[in-house]
Amino acid sequence: MSNPPFDVIVIGAGPGGYIAAIRAAQLGFNVACIDEWKNDKGGPAPGGTCTNVGCIPSKALLQSSEHFEHAGHAFADHGIGLKDLRMDVAKMLARKNQIVKQNNDGILYLFKKNKVTFFHGRGSFAGAVAGGYEVAVGDAKLVAKQVVVATGSVARALPGTPFDEERVLSNDGALRIGAVPKKLGLIGSGVIGLEMGSVWRRLGAEVTVLEALPTFLGAVDEQIAKEAHKAFTKQGLKIELGVKVGEIKSGKSGVEVEYTDAKGAAHKLAVDKLIVSIGRAPNTQGLNAQAVGLALDERGAIVVDAECRTNLPGVWAVGDVVRGPMLAHKAEEEGVAVAERIAGQHGHVNFDTIPWVIYTSPEIAWVGQTEQQLKASGRAYKAGVFPFMANGRARALGDTTGMVKFLADAATDEILGVHIVGPMASELISEAVVAMEFKASAEDIARICHAHPSLSEATKEAALAVDKRTLNF
Ligand code: FAD
Ligand code: NAI
Repeated sequence: MSNPPFDVIVIGAGPGGYIAAIRAAQLGFNVACIDEWKNDKGGPAPGGTCTNVGCIPSKALLQSSEHFEHAGHAFADHGIGLKDLRMDVAKMLARKNQIVKQNNDGILYLFKKNKVTFFHGRGSFAGAVAGGYEVAVGDAKLVAKQVVVATGSVARALPGTPFDEERVLSNDGALRIGAVPKKLGLIGSGVIGLEMGSVWRRLGAEVTVLEALPTFLGAVDEQIAKEAHKAFTKQGLKIELGVKVGEIKSGKSGVEVEYTDAKGAAHKLAVDKLIVSIGRAPNTQGLNAQAVGLALDERGAIVVDAECRTNLPGVWAVGDVVRGPMLAHKAEEEGVAVAERIAGQHGHVNFDTIPWVIYTSPEIAWVGQTEQQLKASGRAYKAGVFPFMANGRARALGDTTGMVKFLADAATDEILGVHIVGPMASELISEAVVAMEFKASAEDIARICHAHPSLSEATKEAALAVDKRTLNF
């Protein structure tokens, strides 16, 4: 089957790829997007890791499990009595699957609306041809001058312990557990470990998280990480730091993990299910990168410059398959910027203002530099902290855990970092991102009128705290 040449072929329809395809189509290009993800009926399921086994389904389960926890523990404080509270896990999973499907269908609709031609199957480089590159997908051979690779990432397994998705689970299996396990183990207390651990703990599992590093959430501002650790421990999440994981035996009755703790003492952890969340690896399997000489680094990531150009003219790469944080919004921003660069525009991604959010309860969100980073770089700074305990809306909500923390340059007052642990941190962080994009000072935020009563007043007060003049604390 031969197709007329496209202007742009995008390989992968995760947040990096599908957004790049839509933006390129908006700019007037004839665009093809190829994705191989299959739904349970074998049909197309665009949206990548994020939509199918990542951001969206995890947030659906976090929401369901949080409702359950509130109903079991917090409702009584509001005078709401409940009898015979129970969790229907099958219904929770069906709701999650429905949300995933809505997102898959939404992307197919957006492709139609923007006249992006979608191909369901694996796209692989066939070779360089006059006028660009040939990409094979099934029996079809597509040709385009510009190719955007957005093939994402896959879960890393522990050496010698492959995922069976029954007992030893990646993020995929972790989002499909059919009944609440009595005992759940997690290896890695990173973002997935904490989010997935929270879901199943809230639903009644006894959760133990084994983390290799001696510090909890080492990339997070220390004060914020400490507060979060305190909250998770109080909730009953057992987090063991500084462990060395040894042999893992998986059998019919469950999984046994041998490990030594920080003091060197040997332990065995017996669990019904084990989630391994030790990071993700760039995915170039099946791309046939060698056919065109596309350069990969030692981690298997596609080598790109700051503007997502690979070593090949006209070939770009974005998202998890390249350097930088593995975040959906980072992938999207790169996708947009690449489409604009192909069009001769000046697409731009500011890596210094990419927000991070961990959707636990309390939520953790931050943008910019941490206090330990500023200290290490020798930059003189001022810090301002405001606890949610002193915020009226947080009290009314019944969730006063945590704080907002501002870090600003000691001389110019420019905001260098904002760190939040507490209710709705995921939403509150946007104000800080906007402020930093506009190079605002802490005083700028302190002078802005914030609605009362709102959690955002804690942001204003933390900005006031930089100048040691909080009004409510
Ligand atoms: P992907 O989303 O991985 O998409 C790549 C696509 O390319 C896939 O559909 C794949 O099938 C397809 N593909 C690969 N090779 C080929 C080929 N040769 N031919 C055709 N198709 C191919 N990030 C956040 O920002 N917020 C969150 O809350 C969040 N939660 C997460 C929760 C979990 C459990 C996980 C695992 C990840 C989470 N992430 C989150 C990270 C986020 O999912 C990724 O950063 C994001 O999906 C990366 O987008 P991408 O487009 O680069 O790749
Ligand atoms: P991660 O990098 O966040 O955490 C992995 C953790 O595992 C680290 O703390 C690491 O020290 C630990 N670890 C590594 N090897 C180990 C070993 N052998 N034994 C014990 N611990 C070990 O990776 P994670 O949680 O797998 O998530 C992957 C990525 O997906 C994240 O980095 C993030 O980019 C993305 N993600 C984003 C989310 C969000 O934005 N809310 C949610 C979930 C995932």
